[in-house]
Amino acid sequence: MLGRLNHVGIAVPSIEDAKATYRDLYGVPADAITETRELPAQGVKFAFVNVANSQIELIEPLGEDSPIRNFLEKNPKGGQHHVCFEVPDIYVARDEMVVRGAKVLNEPRIGAHGTPIIFVHPKDSNGVLIELMETPKAAHG
Ligand code: CO
Repeated sequence: MLGRLNHVGIAVPSIEDAKATYRDLYGVPADAITETRELPAQGVKFAFVNVANSQIELIEPLGEDSPIRNFLEKNPKGGQHHVCFEVPDIYVARDEMVVRGAKVLNEPRIGAHGTPIIFVHPKDSNGVLIELMETPKAAHG
């Protein structure tokens, strides 16, 4: 059921500084880096760095009770936060994960790509927080 790797999520104290790292240190063209947007319901700001075969999702806390504040307290310079795979249907995936005994952390909700997502607890996945995201209906560019 696991589809394409969609992105790797990196929590950072400053998205603008992290964008500069990808642009200036790694030579990613400025037009391959998206504008920073806000997802207030999830307590994050985000931007995507487009690379040849995938994306890096930069996330920065938004608001005092952002769920990534804890992570950044433990990793003040930022760090790899989650890995996101696509699935064809988020509700089917959620139900299947529950049947298989995984701890699903949230009801499906709209994520940064505008399609529903869930998170699966790191304890079920070798210490890695896994995001499952319904594949966007439009074809991949
Ligand atoms: Co993500």
